[in-house]
Amino acid sequence: MSYHNPVLLHESIDLLITNPSGTYVDLTFGGGGHSRAILERLSEEGRLIAFDQDADSNANLIEDPRFHFVASNFKNLTRFLQYHKAYPADGILADLGVSSHQIDTAERGFSYRQEGALDMRMNQQQELTAQEVVNHYDEAQLSKLFYTYGEMPNGRQLAQRIIRAREEHPISTTLQLVSVLEPSLPKGKSSKALSKIFQALRIEVNKEMEVLESMLTQTADALQEGGRLVVIAYHSLEDRMVKNIMRAGNLTGEVEKDFFGNPQTPFKLVTRKALQPSEDEIITNPRARSAKLRAAEKITPKSR
Ligand SMILES: C[S@@+](CC[C@H](N)C(=O)[O-])C[C@H]1O[C@@H](n2cnc3c(N)ncnc32)[C@H](O)[C@@H]1O
Repeated sequence: MSYHNPVLLHESIDLLITNPSGTYVDLTFGGGGHSRAILERLSEEGRLIAFDQDADSNANLIEDPRFHFVASNFKNLTRFLQYHKAYPADGILADLGVSSHQIDTAERGFSYRQEGALDMRMNQQQELTAQEVVNHYDEAQLSKLFYTYGEMPNGRQLAQRIIRAREEHPISTTLQLVSVLEPSLPKGKSSKALSKIFQALRIEVNKEMEVLESMLTQTADALQEGGRLVVIAYHSLEDRMVKNIMRAGNLTGEVEKDFFGNPQTPFKLVTRKALQPSEDEIITNPRARSAKLRAAEKITPKSR
């Protein structure tokens, strides 16, 4: 629990498991809270394949013959499920974003509240860091990422501040970046703005939109008929992608039809509206605040 307090735990597991002897996938193992709850529900024949790209999560691995860990980005979903003879699976869960452990470990650089190197890599083997982004992206690239991933209307102004400051000396720590941006933050609402700015950098460093897109487009084929896809998203960009895939099987959200007018979507929605954490859960775990859970079931599209 000190590593990460799982969000919407019972709701997500209830929606995910349809066959206790089936094979399940936890794409975002983290502290293993969801994985443990899945294993508790599975019979001896059940199996769980869990992914995480952060080596720190290795500290939480579960000793259980039904559990297999994949130390990889979930964009490699198909490849590793095939390798583990778990393709197609009975259910896939993704609890997106970063863990509390990642945010609370100051030297990982995810938090604007603590001093640390501007790092923000979930996978510490990768080359691109937030320091590289902040010190080497040009004005157009920086303003675009603050505008698109951070939904900051003054993205350009933020980018210009960074560029002016780095001409003096490189920006290498979280609090250095905060002090550079401070004059452009709304008075009294600077925490909200900083959390969006840091979120934007994190999304860029980890290529979160690209890997989410890649993973989501593999899920329909990676599930058995009747198998469930359950995703917990924490911001609107993620949630929009999840919603479109579940509704239409593609990222545009437009349902394609065959010659006879039959919708060709690989999923049927299990949750009409996204589920959100209760007030009680938010009080005990404020980081659950922005969570949205959606679930869909794999179907075979009708043909004539
Ligand atoms: C919100 S936490 C999941 C917490 C987990 N459900 C639990 O109960 O402890 C997200 C985890 O997913 C991992 N992660 C995020 N994106 C990933 C990706 N593209 N590939 C593999 N792991 C990823 C992060 O490293 C982090 O440990």
